[in-house]
Amino acid sequence: MSFVHSASIPVVEAREVVKDYGEGPTTFRALKGVNFHADRGEFVILSGPSGSGKTTLISILGCVLKATSGTVRVLDDVISDVAESELPKLRLAYVGFIFQGHNLIMSMTAQENVAIMLALRGWNATDAAKEAARLLSLVEIGDKLKSLPGDLSGGQRQRVSIARCIAGNPPIVLADEPTASLDAQTGQLVTELLHNLAKKRGHTVVTVTHDNRIFHFADRIVHIEDGQITQEKDSHS
Ligand SMILES: Nc1ncnc2c1ncn2[C@@H]1O[C@H](COP(=O)(O)OP(=O)(O)OP(=O)(O)O)[C@@H](O)[C@H]1O
Ligand SMILES: [Mg+2]
Repeated sequence: MSFVHSASIPVVEAREVVKDYGEGPTTFRALKGVNFHADRGEFVILSGPSGSGKTTLISILGCVLKATSGTVRVLDDVISDVAESELPKLRLAYVGFIFQGHNLIMSMTAQENVAIMLALRGWNATDAAKEAARLLSLVEIGDKLKSLPGDLSGGQRQRVSIARCIAGNPPIVLADEPTASLDAQTGQLVTELLHNLAKKRGHTVVTVTHDNRIFHFADRIVHIEDGQITQEKDSHS
Protein backbone atom coordinates (compact mmCIF):
# COMPACT_ATOMS: atom_id res chain seq x y z
CA MET A 1 0.00 0.00 0.00
CA SER A 2 1.32 3.48 -0.71
CA PHE A 3 0.26 6.69 0.88
CA VAL A 4 -0.21 10.12 -0.63
CA HIS A 5 1.72 12.30 1.71
CA SER A 6 3.64 15.53 1.65
CA ALA A 7 7.21 14.81 2.81
CA SER A 8 7.44 18.16 4.57
CA ILE A 9 4.88 17.41 7.27
CA PRO A 10 5.24 14.85 10.09
CA VAL A 11 3.70 11.40 9.57
CA VAL A 12 1.89 11.67 12.88
CA GLU A 13 1.07 14.81 14.81
CA ALA A 14 -0.90 15.73 17.93
CA ARG A 15 -1.79 19.31 18.81
CA GLU A 16 -3.11 20.43 22.20
CA VAL A 17 -4.46 16.96 22.88
CA VAL A 18 -6.57 16.52 26.00
CA LYS A 19 -7.80 13.12 27.16
CA ASP A 20 -10.34 12.74 29.95
CA TYR A 21 -11.30 9.35 31.33
CA GLY A 22 -14.77 9.03 32.83
CA GLU A 23 -17.47 11.65 33.15
CA GLY A 24 -18.82 14.11 35.69
CA PRO A 25 -17.13 14.57 39.08
CA THR A 26 -14.96 11.47 38.65
CA THR A 27 -13.39 12.67 35.39
CA PHE A 28 -9.65 12.18 35.29
CA ARG A 29 -7.59 14.31 32.93
CA ALA A 30 -4.81 11.98 31.69
CA LEU A 31 -3.46 14.30 28.97
CA LYS A 32 -3.44 18.05 29.53
CA GLY A 33 -2.73 19.65 26.16
CA VAL A 34 -0.01 17.54 24.56
CA ASN A 35 1.88 18.48 21.40
CA PHE A 36 3.74 15.68 19.67
CA HIS A 37 5.03 14.83 16.20
CA ALA A 38 7.12 12.13 14.55
CA ASP A 39 8.58 11.99 11.06
CA ARG A 40 9.15 9.27 8.50
CA GLY A 41 12.16 7.13 9.48
CA GLU A 42 12.32 8.66 12.94
CA PHE A 43 12.85 6.59 16.10
CA VAL A 44 11.28 8.41 19.04
CA ILE A 45 11.30 7.26 22.65
CA LEU A 46 8.46 8.30 24.92
CA SER A 47 9.46 8.19 28.56
CA GLY A 48 7.98 9.19 31.91
CA PRO A 49 6.82 7.89 35.30
CA SER A 50 4.05 5.32 35.77
CA GLY A 51 0.65 6.95 35.25
CA SER A 52 2.05 9.93 33.35
CA GLY A 53 0.00 9.24 30.20
CA LYS A 54 2.38 7.35 27.89
CA THR A 55 0.01 4.51 26.98
CA THR A 56 -2.84 6.99 26.65
CA LEU A 57 -0.83 9.09 24.20
CA ILE A 58 0.29 6.23 21.97
CA SER A 59 -3.24 4.80 22.03
CA ILE A 60 -4.50 8.11 20.66
CA LEU A 61 -1.73 8.31 18.03
CA GLY A 62 -2.49 4.67 17.15
CA CYS A 63 -6.21 5.17 16.49
CA VAL A 64 -7.19 3.07 19.51
CA LEU A 65 -8.59 5.90 21.63
CA LYS A 66 -10.21 9.16 20.64
CA ALA A 67 -8.90 12.40 22.13
CA THR A 68 -11.36 14.46 24.19
CA SER A 69 -10.16 17.60 22.43
CA GLY A 70 -7.29 18.77 20.26
CA THR A 71 -6.19 17.68 16.81
CA VAL A 72 -4.56 14.39 15.81
CA ARG A 73 -3.41 13.82 12.26
CA VAL A 74 -1.94 10.70 10.68
CA LEU A 75 -0.66 11.30 7.14
CA ASP A 76 -3.57 12.99 5.39
CA ASP A 77 -6.28 11.89 7.81
CA VAL A 78 -7.35 14.14 10.68
CA ILE A 79 -8.27 11.25 12.95
CA SER A 80 -9.58 13.49 15.71
CA ASP A 81 -12.42 14.40 13.33
CA VAL A 82 -13.57 10.88 12.50
CA ALA A 83 -16.26 8.89 14.32
CA GLU A 84 -15.05 6.36 16.90
CA SER A 85 -16.53 3.58 14.73
CA GLU A 86 -14.09 4.53 11.93
CA LEU A 87 -10.97 4.16 14.10
CA PRO A 88 -10.40 0.39 13.58
CA LYS A 89 -10.22 0.88 9.82
CA LEU A 90 -7.64 3.67 10.16
CA ARG A 91 -5.68 1.66 12.71
CA LEU A 92 -5.44 -1.27 10.32
CA ALA A 93 -4.26 0.99 7.49
CA TYR A 94 -1.73 3.02 9.43
CA VAL A 95 -0.50 1.32 12.60
CA GLY A 96 1.39 -1.73 13.81
CA PHE A 97 1.48 -2.30 17.58
CA ILE A 98 3.95 -4.12 19.80
CA PHE A 99 2.98 -4.64 23.43
CA GLN A 100 4.91 -5.50 26.56
CA GLY A 101 3.32 -8.92 26.76
CA HIS A 102 3.66 -10.10 23.18
CA ASN A 103 -0.13 -10.60 22.67
CA LEU A 104 0.38 -13.53 20.31
CA ILE A 105 -2.36 -16.10 19.82
CA MET A 106 -1.02 -19.10 21.73
CA SER A 107 -2.81 -21.74 19.64
CA MET A 108 -1.36 -20.45 16.37
CA THR A 109 2.16 -20.99 15.01
CA ALA A 110 4.56 -18.08 14.58
CA GLN A 111 3.78 -18.01 10.88
CA GLU A 112 0.00 -18.07 11.45
CA ASN A 113 0.28 -15.25 14.00
CA VAL A 114 1.86 -13.04 11.34
CA ALA A 115 -0.31 -14.25 8.47
CA ILE A 116 -3.53 -13.44 10.32
CA MET A 117 -2.58 -9.77 10.40
CA LEU A 118 -2.11 -9.84 6.62
CA ALA A 119 -5.45 -11.60 6.21
CA LEU A 120 -7.05 -8.76 8.20
CA ARG A 121 -5.35 -6.39 5.78
CA GLY A 122 -6.97 -8.13 2.82
CA TRP A 123 -4.28 -10.62 1.69
CA ASN A 124 -5.24 -14.07 0.40
CA ALA A 125 -4.10 -17.08 2.45
CA THR A 126 -1.30 -18.24 0.13
CA ASP A 127 0.35 -14.83 -0.22
CA ALA A 128 -0.11 -14.15 3.50
CA ALA A 129 1.68 -17.38 4.46
CA LYS A 130 4.56 -16.61 2.08
CA GLU A 131 4.93 -13.03 3.27
CA ALA A 132 4.72 -14.11 6.93
CA ALA A 133 7.64 -16.50 6.33
CA ARG A 134 9.63 -13.72 4.68
CA LEU A 135 9.02 -11.30 7.57
CA LEU A 136 9.95 -13.91 10.17
CA SER A 137 13.23 -14.49 8.31
CA LEU A 138 13.78 -10.74 8.33
CA VAL A 139 13.70 -10.75 12.15
CA GLU A 140 15.89 -13.85 12.12
CA ILE A 141 13.50 -16.53 13.32
CA GLY A 142 12.79 -18.03 9.91
CA ASP A 143 13.63 -21.42 11.44
CA LYS A 144 10.68 -21.22 13.88
CA LEU A 145 7.77 -20.77 11.46
CA LYS A 146 5.86 -23.78 12.77
CA SER A 147 6.58 -23.20 16.47
CA LEU A 148 3.83 -22.23 18.88
CA PRO A 149 4.51 -19.13 21.03
CA GLY A 150 4.68 -21.37 24.13
CA ASP A 151 7.71 -23.10 22.64
CA LEU A 152 9.62 -19.86 21.96
CA SER A 153 11.80 -17.75 24.25
CA GLY A 154 10.66 -14.26 25.32
CA GLY A 155 12.98 -12.63 22.81
CA GLN A 156 11.80 -14.92 20.02
CA ARG A 157 8.16 -14.18 20.84
CA GLN A 158 8.91 -10.48 20.71
CA ARG A 159 10.47 -10.98 17.25
CA VAL A 160 7.25 -12.64 16.09
CA SER A 161 5.37 -9.59 17.45
CA ILE A 162 7.65 -7.32 15.45
CA ALA A 163 7.09 -9.34 12.27
CA ARG A 164 3.34 -9.25 12.87
CA CYS A 165 3.43 -5.54 13.56
CA ILE A 166 5.09 -4.71 10.22
CA ALA A 167 3.03 -7.22 8.20
CA GLY A 168 1.39 -5.24 5.42
CA ASN A 169 3.87 -2.40 5.94
CA PRO A 170 1.94 0.11 8.08
CA PRO A 171 3.72 3.49 8.11
CA ILE A 172 3.63 3.82 11.90
CA VAL A 173 5.00 1.36 14.45
CA LEU A 174 4.03 1.92 18.09
CA ALA A 175 5.59 -0.11 20.89
CA ASP A 176 4.57 -0.01 24.56
CA GLU A 177 7.48 -1.16 26.73
CA PRO A 178 8.52 -3.86 24.26
CA THR A 179 11.62 -4.80 26.27
CA ALA A 180 10.10 -4.78 29.76
CA SER A 181 9.88 -8.54 30.18
CA LEU A 182 13.23 -9.28 28.52
CA ASP A 183 16.75 -9.57 29.89
CA ALA A 184 19.19 -6.77 29.07
CA GLN A 185 20.81 -8.46 26.10
CA THR A 186 17.56 -9.56 24.47
CA GLY A 187 16.09 -6.12 25.16
CA GLN A 188 19.01 -4.59 23.31
CA LEU A 189 18.45 -6.91 20.32
CA VAL A 190 14.74 -6.09 20.15
CA THR A 191 15.56 -2.39 20.34
CA GLU A 192 18.05 -2.76 17.49
CA LEU A 193 15.31 -4.40 15.42
CA LEU A 194 12.93 -1.52 16.14
CA HIS A 195 15.66 0.96 15.28
CA ASN A 196 16.20 -0.81 11.95
CA LEU A 197 12.50 -0.55 11.15
CA ALA A 198 12.91 3.22 11.23
CA LYS A 199 16.35 3.51 9.64
CA LYS A 200 16.23 0.77 6.99
CA ARG A 201 12.52 0.56 6.19
CA GLY A 202 11.37 4.10 6.86
CA HIS A 203 8.68 3.33 9.43
CA THR A 204 7.90 6.01 11.97
CA VAL A 205 8.68 4.27 15.27
CA VAL A 206 7.48 5.51 18.66
CA THR A 207 8.51 3.38 21.64
CA VAL A 208 7.44 3.78 25.26
CA THR A 209 10.21 2.75 27.61
CA HIS A 210 11.62 3.33 31.09
CA ASP A 211 14.79 1.59 30.06
CA ASN A 212 17.49 4.27 29.88
CA ARG A 213 19.99 1.72 28.52
CA ILE A 214 18.27 2.02 25.16
CA PHE A 215 17.87 5.80 25.10
CA HIS A 216 20.96 6.22 22.93
CA PHE A 217 19.14 4.49 20.06
CA ALA A 218 16.60 7.31 19.82
CA ASP A 219 16.60 10.25 17.45
CA ARG A 220 14.57 12.04 20.08
CA ILE A 221 13.45 11.40 23.65
CA VAL A 222 10.11 12.90 24.62
CA HIS A 223 9.48 13.07 28.35
CA ILE A 224 5.96 13.16 29.72
CA GLU A 225 4.96 13.85 33.29
CA ASP A 226 1.49 14.17 34.78
CA GLY A 227 -0.14 14.40 31.34
CA GLN A 228 2.20 17.04 29.97
CA ILE A 229 5.32 16.99 27.83
CA THR A 230 8.04 18.30 30.11
CA GLN A 231 11.12 18.08 27.94
CA GLU A 232 12.05 17.01 24.49
CA LYS A 233 15.67 16.49 23.65
CA ASP A 234 17.85 15.17 20.88
CA SER A 235 19.41 12.03 22.36
CA HIS A 236 22.70 12.79 20.61
CA SER A 237 23.15 16.28 22.05
N1 LIG B 1 -9.60 3.54 31.30
C1 LIG B 1 -9.20 4.39 32.23
N2 LIG B 1 -10.09 4.95 33.08
C2 LIG B 1 -9.71 5.84 34.03
N3 LIG B 1 -8.44 6.27 34.20
C3 LIG B 1 -7.50 5.76 33.38
C4 LIG B 1 -7.83 4.79 32.36
N4 LIG B 1 -6.69 4.48 31.70
C5 LIG B 1 -5.72 5.20 32.28
N5 LIG B 1 -6.20 5.96 33.28
C6 LIG B 1 -5.42 6.89 34.12
O1 LIG B 1 -4.76 7.81 33.27
C7 LIG B 1 -3.42 8.05 33.72
C8 LIG B 1 -2.44 7.75 32.59
O2 LIG B 1 -2.49 6.35 32.33
P1 LIG B 1 -1.51 5.67 31.29
O3 LIG B 1 -1.92 4.24 31.20
O4 LIG B 1 -1.52 6.46 30.04
O5 LIG B 1 -0.11 5.83 32.04
P2 LIG B 1 1.34 5.29 31.64
O6 LIG B 1 2.25 6.46 31.57
O7 LIG B 1 1.25 4.41 30.45
O8 LIG B 1 1.74 4.43 32.94
P3 LIG B 1 2.58 3.06 33.07
O9 LIG B 1 4.04 3.45 32.94
O10 LIG B 1 2.27 2.59 34.46
O11 LIG B 1 2.13 2.12 32.01
C9 LIG B 1 -3.23 7.20 34.97
O12 LIG B 1 -3.40 8.00 36.10
C10 LIG B 1 -4.33 6.16 34.87
O13 LIG B 1 -4.77 5.78 36.15
MG1 LIG C 1 1.54 2.36 30.13
